[in-house]
Amino acid sequence: MAKGRKNGLYEGVSEELSALMRRGWADTERHGLEPGEQAPYAARRRAALSALFPGERLVVPSGNLTYRSNDDAHPFRPYSGYVHLTGDRARDGALVLEPRADGGHDAYCYQLPRDSREDDEFWLGYTAELWTGRRPSLAESGAVLGLPCRDVRTAADDLAAGSGVPTRIVRGVDPAFEAAVTTDEERDEELEEALSGLRLVKDAWEIGELRKAVDSTVRGFTDCVAELSRAVASSERWIEGTFFRRARLEGNSVGYGSICAAGEHATIMHWTDNDGPVRPGDLLLLDAGVETRTLYTADVTRTLPISGTFTAVQRRVYDAVYEAQEAGMAAVRPGAPYRAFHEAAQRSLTARLVAWGFVEGPVDRAYALGLQRRFTMAGTGHMLGLDVHDCARARTEEYVDGVLAPGMVLTVEPGLYFQPDDLTVPEEWRGIGVRIEDDLLVTEDGHENLSAGLPRSADEVEAWMARVAG
Ligand code: GLY
Ligand code: MN
Ligand code: MN
Repeated sequence: MAKGRKNGLYEGVSEELSALMRRGWADTERHGLEPGEQAPYAARRRAALSALFPGERLVVPSGNLTYRSNDDAHPFRPYSGYVHLTGDRARDGALVLEPRADGGHDAYCYQLPRDSREDDEFWLGYTAELWTGRRPSLAESGAVLGLPCRDVRTAADDLAAGSGVPTRIVRGVDPAFEAAVTTDEERDEELEEALSGLRLVKDAWEIGELRKAVDSTVRGFTDCVAELSRAVASSERWIEGTFFRRARLEGNSVGYGSICAAGEHATIMHWTDNDGPVRPGDLLLLDAGVETRTLYTADVTRTLPISGTFTAVQRRVYDAVYEAQEAGMAAVRPGAPYRAFHEAAQRSLTARLVAWGFVEGPVDRAYALGLQRRFTMAGTGHMLGLDVHDCARARTEEYVDGVLAPGMVLTVEPGLYFQPDDLTVPEEWRGIGVRIEDDLLVTEDGHENLSAGLPRSADEVEAWMARVAG
């Protein structure tokens, strides 16, 4: 919580002002609300969690505001495990699964209620709706989420009263909830693993949201191409702002810091300063994703020739990455080991690097030793969903050592990055970075490329840029 305000211009509140503030407010309670679209899906997700932990109380907090300075908060983003199990985005709350004698659980949510007008908190307090906007009432939230909602201010006492019940909590999300329960660190870790694991296979509603995220992202990339000449006159920031406008208009925000990397910045995996020049003749690596208002994100990369056409050496690198991506995508199908797409793409890149003489062969040996990583440091993809690197805490056996199943959504994103100071490659290769990243849904018989709305091959990219940039 923010520290109390210092140096405010008002010294106090007169009795008369206090009384004036409290009276004359209409009852704005909304009645007759129906459960939201997501409510039945969230109920099924909770049932799956319940089955894993019979007889135990589970506490999944949503999280609190964090402060940039004084009373200026960072935008709030709830813990993804809470969002998945509730469809809710409120702060300062928690989902509780309370064990029943039959082995199942009763679910309810703790939430901040609406402000009472009985005291001055409603206009002076840190959670004051008058400053931050109206919250749904507990009854309104309960109706929309399809979950009973209770006042969070009673949570510590309620949980203490049931302290004999074996309990697990997701740690690191809300210190107040953590202080209210007594739990074991290792068993809490198992709860977090389970929550991450439950998100590996997306349900139909989530797949719909991911499609929306990707479709908005396709429009955002098109915006950026349409504004390339303005970026050339300005900087990478113009690209960042252009994509952000689309993300805020159609979604909640960007799902991660956009990487708008022109020229040699494209060789920096997580370049988010985005303050460099955009020069014709260079490449622009744009890695960005719109996050929907329901908090599902896309994660797409295209590498574009700023002038509209690739140079010969840029095209050689681009084609190698494209081939690797084709090899990786071909390995995405149900029943395939998760690692197969990574291995196929990395082998393809290794073969090119050996053929170019940048890595010593033979290919099998180079690959076994991981020598290609000098030019391609990252893994070839990851699960995608509420988090850009979704399901990151899932059990290794279920994730990287597991197999692909219908409903999983993952990125395939090989890249080659020749650092500007790399003396082991010819000068004209230095400072070139290429990544192509798409979002794939594993289907019953293979995969669907959700981001196929954006061109991928070098020829298609050039033709698209000519069309869009004019
Ligand atoms: N944008 C982060 C990633 O591609 O994993
Ligand atoms: Mn990615
Ligand atoms: Mn990305």
